[in-house]
Amino acid sequence: MEKKKIVVSGIRPTGNIHLGNYFGAIRNFVRMQDEYQCYFFIADYHSLTTHPHPEHLRQNVKQILATYVACGMDPEKVAIYVQSDLPETAELYLILNMNVYLGELMRCTSFKEKAKQYWGQLRKELVEDLSSGEGQEEKAGKAEKEGNKAHVSAGLLTYPTLMAADILIHKADFVPVGKDQEQHLEMTRAFAHRFNSVYGVDCFGQPQAFNFGENLIKIPGLDGSGKMGKSESGNNAIFLTDEDAVIRKKIMRATTDSGPVEMNQQKPEAIANLFQLVRVLCGEEAFREFDAAYNRCDIRYGDMKKQLAEDTIKFVSPFRARIGEILSDDAFLEKIRRQGQEKARESAVRTVREVRGIIGF
Ligand code: TYM
Repeated sequence: MEKKKIVVSGIRPTGNIHLGNYFGAIRNFVRMQDEYQCYFFIADYHSLTTHPHPEHLRQNVKQILATYVACGMDPEKVAIYVQSDLPETAELYLILNMNVYLGELMRCTSFKEKAKQYWGQLRKELVEDLSSGEGQEEKAGKAEKEGNKAHVSAGLLTYPTLMAADILIHKADFVPVGKDQEQHLEMTRAFAHRFNSVYGVDCFGQPQAFNFGENLIKIPGLDGSGKMGKSESGNNAIFLTDEDAVIRKKIMRATTDSGPVEMNQQKPEAIANLFQLVRVLCGEEAFREFDAAYNRCDIRYGDMKKQLAEDTIKFVSPFRARIGEILSDDAFLEKIRRQGQEKARESAVRTVREVRGIIGF
């Protein structure tokens, strides 16, 4: 029998799952589970870059476990596990880091964006100082006063190495992710290739980002620009746990404009975003009708939002109910976590043993 291709992916336990996580990642996880050998985990090591309170971390891990199952992942078919239950990942991360270059980590877009958020106007100096190795202590002292979050940690910088370790530890062929993870996947391939060439072996393959059928997906947010994410207020994202009234409110408040002024004019970003949500949640036919109305300049955003809200509620509410049910069953959650850990460790131990041998440990 032909060996099944291997699939690995994970989600950080930093809050509830939103529609971006669902369409970018989880929907693919569920579709892949019959055909591939799948490892899906909760990236709790990664979440430490934002210094969660231990109690919140525990709760968020449970929440994602429950969401995975509620969305249709079958613990009998796939290994559903928690990243920190696989300490082999940390060892591979350490080993890979020895051949990862500071420059490539610093050029990573997600690092630059996060560093910018943390440091504000100090960012430029930081990046300069990081490369020259000067002025760090003084800045660190200042940052200490501003709270832990003002630091740009080594963990944040080496985030892509940890992600590569997650993927390579099971020797994945495919990694279902949203568009925002594309660059991390490129880096994973570079690190895998480098390990092979440093040691003159053929240990790791070249894992590919994956989405069914089309290109990688980016689900937009409701606030007019960029992707759906966990913004401060939470109004930018629709979560799978949102109550009907909350969904209605968020969608009715989504950013629009005063309407098109010319036939067939190009849609500004906020409007294009709303249309994309309509396409995903209301279907192609509804999308085409609203699109035609927009092109004729007689679109009524209120009507479009109402339909989007009702279809979103229809989509989200069964998930919400199921997540609630599963969350109340601690024994079941613990059982699937242990079951997943056992399956995942088998392959992780195998890879780390091979890597240790190659290195000469
Ligand atoms: P995270 O937790 O930010 O997001 C989890 C998954 O959801 C996707 N996603 C989106 N897709 C489309 N549109 C959006 N608006 C949107 N927002 C989020 C992400 O692309 C991701 O697939 N670094 C990862 C977690 C991780 C990982 C890994 C993933 C750690 N190790 C190994 C794959 C393989 C992250 O922060 O995802």
